[in-house]
Amino acid sequence: MIMPMQEPPVFIRAMSHEDLAQVSDIERRSYEFPWSHGVFRDCLLAGYQCIVLDREDSVAGYGILSVAAGEAHILNLCVEPAHRAHGYGELLLDEILARAREAEVEEIFLEVRPSNETAIALYRKKGFHQIANRAQYYQASHGREDAAVLSKKLTGSY
Ligand SMILES: CC(C)(COP(=O)(O)OP(=O)(O)OC[C@H]1O[C@@H](n2cnc3c(N)ncnc32)[C@H](O)[C@@H]1OP(=O)(O)O)[C@@H](O)C(=O)NCCC(=O)NCCS
Repeated sequence: MIMPMQEPPVFIRAMSHEDLAQVSDIERRSYEFPWSHGVFRDCLLAGYQCIVLDREDSVAGYGILSVAAGEAHILNLCVEPAHRAHGYGELLLDEILARAREAEVEEIFLEVRPSNETAIALYRKKGFHQIANRAQYYQASHGREDAAVLSKKLTGSY
């Protein structure tokens, strides 16, 4: 999928094993507790919907969606730190939502740290709302941190 309105133009496509070095590098620079290269490889091998956003021949962001038993879960969504606040996260999320709709699931879910105000603002903008709290879900620098579980119904209007 090409986004011609973007300057420079950006392109969302399926992630491949050749992308994993760039994806892992962005991941390491984005999260305090990053996924390993092996976790991304396993996502590809498991057949999850793994996408990347290309900008000037480099990966500038990625997203991972799993669809099973009529439910969709966003497992990761991340933009290269130097390219944030240019709309790329929203483009990736729009593509993930489109793929979940194509899979005819009724609802899409994700977990996010309550401290991650930027991500929560993006998800709220796209119509997600909090449905639960998972206590002590994430590793944190001092102990554990809860997860907010967010969801969005995919039936009806966009
Ligand atoms: C969350 C993330 C993917 C957003 O990507 P991005 O490309 O910077 O976001 P966009 O430019 O597409 O912004 C879309 C919306 O997100 C929200 N947003 C983005 N940056 C924000 C900021 N600094 N403060 C508050 N809200 C922000 C806004 O609602 C924005 O919409 P607007 O431009 O109309 O105000 C990015 O910050 C990131 O990769 N963070 C690290 C990884 C992460 O935490 N992922 C989420 C895990 S659940």
